[in-house]
Amino acid sequence: MSNSSILDEFKTTHFAEEKIDPNRKLKVGIIGTGWIADAHIVSYKKQPDVEIVALADLIPGKADAFKAKWNLEGARTYLSGDELIDHEPDIDAVSVCTYNCQHAEPTIYALNHGVNVLLEKPMCVTLDEAVAICRAEKASGKVLSIGFQPRFDENMKMIKRIVESGTLGKIYYIQTGGGRRRGIPTPFGTSFIAKDTGGIGALGDIGCYSLDMVLNAIGYPKPLTVTGYKSAFFGTNPKYMPCKEYAEAFGVDDFAAGFVRLEGGIVLDFRIAWAMHLDTPGDTIIMGTEGSLRIPSTDCWNGSVGGAMTIYHDLCGTQTQTTVPILRTGADLFDLKIRSFLDAVKKGAPAPVPSSQIIYNQAILDGICRSAELGHEIEIEIPEI
Ligand SMILES: NC(=O)c1ccc[n+]([C@@H]2O[C@H](COP(=O)([O-])OP(=O)(O)OC[C@H]3O[C@@H](n4cnc5c(N)ncnc54)[C@H](O)[C@@H]3O)[C@@H](O)[C@H]2O)c1
Repeated sequence: MSNSSILDEFKTTHFAEEKIDPNRKLKVGIIGTGWIADAHIVSYKKQPDVEIVALADLIPGKADAFKAKWNLEGARTYLSGDELIDHEPDIDAVSVCTYNCQHAEPTIYALNHGVNVLLEKPMCVTLDEAVAICRAEKASGKVLSIGFQPRFDENMKMIKRIVESGTLGKIYYIQTGGGRRRGIPTPFGTSFIAKDTGGIGALGDIGCYSLDMVLNAIGYPKPLTVTGYKSAFFGTNPKYMPCKEYAEAFGVDDFAAGFVRLEGGIVLDFRIAWAMHLDTPGDTIIMGTEGSLRIPSTDCWNGSVGGAMTIYHDLCGTQTQTTVPILRTGADLFDLKIRSFLDAVKKGAPAPVPSSQIIYNQAILDGICRSAELGHEIEIEIPEI
């Protein structure tokens, strides 16, 4: 056994198992039975206190095929999220797994009917939609959690612990983002890349994760202004797409960048790519008055860090570096996301990934789009919820 593998044993994180009452079952539905709904059903099926009662998809036959694929005998199927909510008065919760442009409407409809919602990321497409979602949530008193499973990764939690420990001092500059050399998602069609379904591209697909990683670590300060840029040189070029039709359908960003001023005198320099002629546009760095943290980028945003992180700081007057070992998360991130949502529903506890934070993430995505269209810096204004 090498030294590193011996040390790895000490890095394993052990979780205190929370008691789940299997007698108190939650009736759950899934709205949108596409690609990511598979990950939701795999996790729901592991939960002893969940009964999947209903499925909905706009495409005729799709929810039925999902039902058959996953042996969900008792589940009723519908042709829209609204129809599901109308016909299932006893349902406790839904996973909203629709494409980005259909996040706001079914979420608001479910909340307005007293149903708890686990909403896939990004929260939605525009800031206006995010405000409407937050208002519906507030009026309902129900749980709304946004599907950022990387939050549950032990390395992500470590980034937050490092910042909160004061080791870095006052944070003043952050660079984040990343992306793929080639990675425009077209797994089952054009729902990620068409304007009327995806709405936003790399920004909403992986940019929101990079923003959440750093904003969550520093306590989600309010964004004040943003200068944004976005482009689509790869997605619209048939040379880089599976076929000419996909290039013609491409209506979102494949690269975006933003310079954001945050409350507390912090600036955030961000860039994200679905495709580029580069390995990485840079590691994530969090710079503070007492130390800085470097988080290696990943080839493909996969919900963790790309390698051991490094803290640069002075020790007894000497410039030094401390390596932060990679931590292993003791459970599947999707299972943790689903379980934490169910626990919040059962206890009436706050959402594990609250909209009150993610609305700032959405405000930045929205601000980048608006600033890019206007060609100058804009102020971010978030109305009272
Ligand atoms: N958390 C993650 O790791 C992760 C990974 C992939 C995708 N996602 C997110 O999940 C969402 C869905 O992605 P996907 O890849 O499953 O897309 P998809 O296109 O494969 O599936 C979406 C499905 O929703 C259906 N739909 C749309 N509006 C509907 C409505 N109002 N009522 C009922 N059905 C409706 C569509 O017909 C489609 O079948 C996206 O927002 C994406 O960003 C998250």
